[in-house]
Amino acid sequence: MEKQITIIKGDGIGPEIVNEAIKVLDRIAIQYHHTFHYREVLAGGCAIDAYGTSLTQETLDACIHSDSVLLGAVGGPKWDHVDPSIRPEKALLGIRKGMGLYANLRPASILPQLSHTSPLRKDIVDQGIDFMVVRELISGVYFGDKQTTEENGELVAVDQMIYREHEIRRIAHSAFQTARKRHGKVVSVDKANVLDTSRLWRKIVHEVAKEYPDVTLHDMLVDNCAMQIVKQPAQFDVIVTENMFGDILSDEASMITGSIGLIPSASLGEGSIGMYEPIHGSAPDIAGQNIADPIGTILAAGMMLKYSFDLSKESDAITAAVNETLNQGYRTADIMEDGAKQLTCSQMGDKIASCIK
Ligand SMILES: NC(=O)c1ccc[n+]([C@@H]2O[C@H](COP(=O)([O-])OP(=O)(O)OC[C@H]3O[C@@H](n4cnc5c(N)ncnc54)[C@H](O)[C@@H]3O)[C@@H](O)[C@H]2O)c1
Repeated sequence: MEKQITIIKGDGIGPEIVNEAIKVLDRIAIQYHHTFHYREVLAGGCAIDAYGTSLTQETLDACIHSDSVLLGAVGGPKWDHVDPSIRPEKALLGIRKGMGLYANLRPASILPQLSHTSPLRKDIVDQGIDFMVVRELISGVYFGDKQTTEENGELVAVDQMIYREHEIRRIAHSAFQTARKRHGKVVSVDKANVLDTSRLWRKIVHEVAKEYPDVTLHDMLVDNCAMQIVKQPAQFDVIVTENMFGDILSDEASMITGSIGLIPSASLGEGSIGMYEPIHGSAPDIAGQNIADPIGTILAAGMMLKYSFDLSKESDAITAAVNETLNQGYRTADIMEDGAKQLTCSQMGDKIASCIK
């Protein structure tokens, strides 16, 4: 298989961690006889320095016309005071919107070797944590009209929350299809006792569910879901929800796994193209020191193989190589523990690449 991958290393630790993911992809290419072509473009703070804007049309075109995008992270204190219209994070919103990436998939899973990093009680963690949050990404209250006006001598702010049938339908399909690749269980999260958008959400999700008789569907109110994630995370397989609820719940889900450096995410749209990245930011406090944890980015490359290129075997080989490396007792500084062997970022990439079978 031959694929064109757009590479956005970004800022801070971005270049360090993306280099390690490319190392692992190159190993997969050799072992499984594929060819990955990389085209590197700038986005985020480095693009502000080079072009005066965090996202150029040329970068967006490179993303749209490739088979997938692998991103490190953008942003940092250097660009904290630039004009809000060109902030580094604007590049991500621009790419998501420009590529029509409406589904964000974020796994929350904990490797047995790292179960001590979870802030949850051991007996809860031991039941297993392995679920996927499927979040609607380009609609809802974050994208509705916003206005602050004055009324009777005081300020009043309004954020409009809009969901259209087709926006709910397509994310519901993403969730059911994801569940088919996992354990066939979807929990749809809303606030249907209060919000009209949620009542429409529930109606459409149930309509779509009829096309997936092999997948079970349950509804859950968002406040209950926030509690259940910490009380009994083992009950979840796939959680599907709207943009703002998903933003909050996916961060809660990451937190219970304990290690921000290890979690990947995928943003998908129509067709197979997607953008893949770790969930963390550019970690300016450790940038340039070769101590960042590259595992989140390496697993993001693994998700790219599975969700965009339909290479499940190769994707599983990456997960297995990460597991084996951890089983052998190797750790980067962020997850270091007594008795383990500490590796730099590039050594961790080398080790994982060498474990690809
Ligand atoms: N998707 C993105 O590109 C993205 C996401 C979040 C934040 N940001 C940006 O990143 C910058 C820094 O943000 P922040 O400090 O709030 O969050 P952050 O995720 O960059 O860092 C939070 C903490 O986690 C540590 N950390 C993060 N990733 C790590 C890794 N791979 N290995 C080891 N330790 C790691 C950092 O050293 C830091 O102590 C800001 O400019 C922010 O806007 C970008």
